[in-house]
Amino acid sequence: MYRVGIDIGGTSIKIGVVDDALQIVRRSAIPFRCVGGEAVAAMIAEEIHKLLAQEPKIEKIESVGVVLPGSIDKTQSIVLDAHNLDFHNVPFRAQLQAQFPELQVYLANDADGAALAELGRGAFEGCKTAVLLTLGTGVGGGVILGGKLFSGGTGLGAELGHMTLVNGGEYCTCGNHGCVEAYCSATALKRDGIRAMKAHPESLLAKKSGGDEALIDAKFVIDCAKEGDETAMAVFDAYVDHLAAACISVVHILDPEVIAIGGGVCHAGEFLFEPLRRGIDEKCFFSEHGKIVPAVMGNDAGIVGAAMLALNA
Ligand code: BGC
Repeated sequence: MYRVGIDIGGTSIKIGVVDDALQIVRRSAIPFRCVGGEAVAAMIAEEIHKLLAQEPKIEKIESVGVVLPGSIDKTQSIVLDAHNLDFHNVPFRAQLQAQFPELQVYLANDADGAALAELGRGAFEGCKTAVLLTLGTGVGGGVILGGKLFSGGTGLGAELGHMTLVNGGEYCTCGNHGCVEAYCSATALKRDGIRAMKAHPESLLAKKSGGDEALIDAKFVIDCAKEGDETAMAVFDAYVDHLAAACISVVHILDPEVIAIGGGVCHAGEFLFEPLRRGIDEKCFFSEHGKIVPAVMGNDAGIVGAAMLALNA
């Protein structure tokens, strides 16, 4: 049995055909363009047909699932707000359904999809209670409760990136201030790296970038910190401190067996995880808590999770 999973991001749309063992047996990617829901749905449908027509042809698929970086309404049909895609109140499930009238079509938030993928064959296998935080352009959150994806009390799901971390703090893309996303996203690390570079012309951050903001991103800051730059290290320490605080709240609310951290920033590896675990241990109310681990599904999380939406329904 094959299912199609689609992962829409700010720059590309990844499409995969997923088998019963949750392996991606065929995949492709097309650029994402802000051309509106209907046009995006048509582009996706065209690409799916091409994928299925490759030899040996796949004659039958069971369902089509799509995940994207934004909030979805209670009926899992309308994209309420996906800032990166410029989708606001877009009835995307119906738009995609129109391309595949004979199939079930599912729509979900990207981090929810990624959490499902971790449950299927990743860091959450066998878990009843687990939480995923994805640290990328934004901060996504997916919650597994009772061994299933938790879609919220009223169907809106969990948006852990928009928990308030610092009351009245940094501006967040959601319009609020002080959200976890405004401190723990790759975008926040980049912002703080640029600020520190400007304030410290003597730093490696400034020397290596030649003062060019465009060269600084989260990885650049992490690399400078790894090379021992005090300025970059101070930025990274503050970043980890905020992330630890966010994780501590999650531990105190849910006591999950596992918290997995995904997204680009988690490529920092133990350089991130060692101080993160220490920060959590220092301030946690519990003397013992669940594991804090890297997510394992990486770039495949979206496709696999999107395909799994049919199984979770
Ligand atoms: C969005 C979330 C999304 C996250 C990760 C945030 O900015 O509000 O819905 O899950 O980014 O892409």
